[in-house]
Amino acid sequence: MCGIIGITSYRPVSSAIINSLKKLEYRGYDSAGIATLSDGVINEVKSEGRVDNLEKNLAIKNMSGSVGIGHVRWATHGIPNTINAHPHSSDNVSIVHNGIIENSTILKKYLIDKGHVFKSQTDTEVIVHLITEHLKKDSLKESVIKMLKQLHGSFALGIIFKDEPDLIIGARRGSPLAVGYGSNENYLGSDSYALKSMTNKISYLNDGEFCIIKKDQVEFFDEKGIKVNKKVLELSTDEQNYEKGDFKHFMAKEIEEQPTTLKNCIKEYVDTINNDINIHNFPWNIKEISSVTLIGCGTAYHSCLMAKYWFEELTELDVTIDIASEFRYRKNRFKKDNLYIFVSQSGETADTYAALDLCNKHNVKTCSVVNVIESSIARDSNFVLPIHCGPEIGVASTKAFLGQMLVLYILVLKMGILKKDLDKDLYLNKIKDLKELPKLVEETLLTENKIQTVSSTFTDAKGSMFLGRGFSYPIALEGALKLKELVYVHAEGYPAGEMKHGPLALIEDGMPVVVLAPRDKYYPKTISNMQEVIARGAKVLLITNKSKDEIVSENIWETIEVESTNDDLLPFLLTIPLQKLAYYSALKKGYDIDKPRNLAKSVTVE
Ligand code: G6P
Repeated sequence: MCGIIGITSYRPVSSAIINSLKKLEYRGYDSAGIATLSDGVINEVKSEGRVDNLEKNLAIKNMSGSVGIGHVRWATHGIPNTINAHPHSSDNVSIVHNGIIENSTILKKYLIDKGHVFKSQTDTEVIVHLITEHLKKDSLKESVIKMLKQLHGSFALGIIFKDEPDLIIGARRGSPLAVGYGSNENYLGSDSYALKSMTNKISYLNDGEFCIIKKDQVEFFDEKGIKVNKKVLELSTDEQNYEKGDFKHFMAKEIEEQPTTLKNCIKEYVDTINNDINIHNFPWNIKEISSVTLIGCGTAYHSCLMAKYWFEELTELDVTIDIASEFRYRKNRFKKDNLYIFVSQSGETADTYAALDLCNKHNVKTCSVVNVIESSIARDSNFVLPIHCGPEIGVASTKAFLGQMLVLYILVLKMGILKKDLDKDLYLNKIKDLKELPKLVEETLLTENKIQTVSSTFTDAKGSMFLGRGFSYPIALEGALKLKELVYVHAEGYPAGEMKHGPLALIEDGMPVVVLAPRDKYYPKTISNMQEVIARGAKVLLITNKSKDEIVSENIWETIEVESTNDDLLPFLLTIPLQKLAYYSALKKGYDIDKPRNLAKSVTVE
């Protein structure tokens, strides 16, 4: 949610800020802006829409200044327009903000009473006036400390000052923020991805900290202004992962990459010679764990639901799952023998982080399954299981979903064997099958043509349903979410067996319904449920796996067959056509596939 960049340098910074904003667009893209300081004057240029619009603004071309900040917005307070776009400035300061200031109404009233005039509808503007007010009597550092103390809510801030020709303040509470080190220039960014093209040396601010960045020096402070020392981390430079290559969209590239990302992940966790799973440095004795709670949001929540089915099938562990935004406010009973697993591609999702923080405060066992290993969730959990799938740029998650499921499945197998819930031969067979998974995904990716044909029906529909039972149910939810995210059509994921308890009423003549019915133990039941929707006029797209047995059912509109494997692994294969269905439907509509409306890659607000 919202991207921040700041650069202080020995040379003009506006074009480097624009380039970084382009990388940050996945965090928000309803408006963008930049402010630089030149000869003691703050100049600001902002525009509605994408960074491309900002770049086209002629004023940018003449922007000088060797210190500056930039922002891409995902609107929370105030509609997305130029006035509400960041930076927000007074004569003295200019600010970019990611997050929400919860007490902005009270602060605004206090500042208006003091004579401040507000231009925008944003919560951010109160920060501008607040610090301007403090600067009237306090030093810069004292003003920052006092201002931060008055703010409630979550934020990452970048601030420049009219009277400081070489200085940026960065501050963090809740929302992530990183500092990058260059040669005779230093940077501030909402994540390392924004900084990677400029440096691979970074530090992260912890919650409550702020920093003073000059071109040749960076200092970090806690909320009281006491200096803190920071580790400088070196990031890998895998730049090619950030390019689309020959693909039209990152989403298409990331779908096609899945055989490789799964293979890479299997290489990290599976000892293919001894057919065993390596999870090194697991910090607890497995006997100390008798139950598991999995927590995530969006797609990550769906992989938690998937893991629940696997845990229950292959271990004796009690399993609960929760949506992070619910978990964080419920009255939970924290248990020492429970393992709390947090699943998040970005590792920065505010609700998931808050749920983790809550668990840490109760001193229970926390483990995270993340893609970004430098993320806040990874850093603050007791144990991290990376999904090793490389940067995912398309906003709607694809390869990270398969990666999350894979790591969770590997964890289930390992816990099952260690707890002696899983028979050794079965364990060995499951690992053998797992090694084949990337190849099967690769073959399933070839079901291209039929999906392209059926996608127009989904594009034109008023709504659609995705049904599945057992292991296929989480995938039905994920298929529906992908269609909602990318095609903006109402899509409902439902347990097929539950249709008769209400949702059958929604089925109308010609409504497209996806039925996931692989040849597992649920197959006959799901086929019966499918008949119920066909009887009410639904156009059923059946997704099953290849089998020598014929499908005994009439009036199915279309059938797609994925490869076959053991029941546990079929969910991976069933996901592929659903990802492609959403992709091609969005393509037909001409929508912006990598940046769908009202969605952000890293949701760092509540
Ligand atoms: C946003 C993204 C989704 C993602 C969810 C959770 O809604 O657009 O694709 O599934 O956040 O994100 P996380 O980074 O925690 O997996």
